[in-house]
Amino acid sequence: MNIVILAAGQGKRMYSALPKVLHPIAGKPMLGHVLDTVQKMDSMVTPCIVLGHGQEAVKAYLNKNHSNFTIAVQAEQKGTGHAVMQALSYLNEDASTLILYGDVPLIQASTLKDLLLLAQDETLVILTQELENPTGYGRIVRSLEGEVTGIVEEKDATAEVKQVREINTGMMACPTKELREWLSHIQPNNAQGEYYLTDIVGLAAGQGMPIRTMMPQYGFEVEGVNSRVQLAALERTWQTHLAEELLLKGVTLIDPQRIDIRGDFNCSNDVTIDIGCIFEGQVEIARSVHIGPYCVIKDSKIGANSQIKAFSHLDGAVLGESAVIGPYARLRPGTEIDEQAHVGNFVEVKNSRIGKGSKANHLSYIGDAQVGSRVNIGAGTITCNYDGVNKHQTIIEDDVFIGSDTQLVAPVTVGKGATIGAGTTLTKDAPEDKLTISRAKQLSVEWKRPQKK
Ligand code: UD1
Ligand code: CA
Repeated sequence: MNIVILAAGQGKRMYSALPKVLHPIAGKPMLGHVLDTVQKMDSMVTPCIVLGHGQEAVKAYLNKNHSNFTIAVQAEQKGTGHAVMQALSYLNEDASTLILYGDVPLIQASTLKDLLLLAQDETLVILTQELENPTGYGRIVRSLEGEVTGIVEEKDATAEVKQVREINTGMMACPTKELREWLSHIQPNNAQGEYYLTDIVGLAAGQGMPIRTMMPQYGFEVEGVNSRVQLAALERTWQTHLAEELLLKGVTLIDPQRIDIRGDFNCSNDVTIDIGCIFEGQVEIARSVHIGPYCVIKDSKIGANSQIKAFSHLDGAVLGESAVIGPYARLRPGTEIDEQAHVGNFVEVKNSRIGKGSKANHLSYIGDAQVGSRVNIGAGTITCNYDGVNKHQTIIEDDVFIGSDTQLVAPVTVGKGATIGAGTTLTKDAPEDKLTISRAKQLSVEWKRPQKK
């Protein structure tokens, strides 16, 4: 099979310096959605992407994020037929060719598989759709017997053809030899002076080639984006679909209209997600987790029965079972929270491990630290991990109690069972089981408060 993805158009109505196909849906460029779907359908196929407007930016994106593709350049945009012509030299003659659009991002792999099944043995297959309002689209024209005889663009359509509600989505598949042959015959003699890909349908019909149509399972699969109004609407449609998939799998969403998923979200059943949460990148959530309102969770793994309370921000964190995080916690990359550990409000953790059952409940910074089990870290404790040039480790062994407002100047180790008095600035290792304290001695002197004059 060959796949051609048309993406040379300018996207004038986006009013953007960013090429249209790089505008994101669910956090991923539209073209990225199409490429990921193609890979999902058949990881062996190398799609040919036709680029024109903004090709430098699109190439930069492709080189950074995708590996399996070729690029054909359409220097001047002379129509969809002309665009496919630019890809012809990359196509394997003996296979079928499937044509997709970089600005129709949500086509599903299952639909494309069905389309290709129909396209086997010498058939042209067109993905079509019935629309209440077909204005602007190419119309599928059929004979009295119902056979497809051609596609007529809106701008070339008679009043009668304009009545047709079955439209061309643009996606189609056909044998490559014939595609090449038909494209050599099409002419730009139409209302727009363009080489229409759709003209191949009339040629195929004239030759008696079987033409079949099919419709997608979901309407959003064939929705294209021409403006930011359509982009925003498609984003909502897609998010609603993702939310429904979660509900059907046994996830409770307090309001399915107020969740955003931007990446691969793997969520077990009996998880409850309150409003306003955003999930980005690779997120995995085990069963019976409760996520409070307005949390942002990126590239993280959360163990069963854990609770993430309101307004917490997790990025690159791994949590064991029954952990309790937040409200207002910030977990940065490299954070590992073991089971039953608590990280409370206004606590920031980075590149650190917090052991089983340990607690840091209030206003702390824990960076580059290894914290054992059953440790209590008092309010306002800070690991001073950075000397202005290098980062250093803090090691806190099991059963340690750190008093409030302690500074641990790394590299430093607090031995098992040690207690650190409140307000200590720890610059040397603290021995096991002892109380270590660094604090100016408390004294009381006679004293008279100044009086107001
Ligand atoms: C096209 C179809 C129309 C269909 C509609 C569906 C033709 C002639 N018409 O119309 O039947 O109903 O899509 O949305 O095919 N492109 C290029 N190079 C070009 C022109 C376009 O790469 O020279 C790309 C665009 O970037 C876009 C796609 O092809 O991704 C469709 O182009 P567009 O101009 O939007 O086609 P329509 O006029 O909407
Ligand atoms: Ca279009």
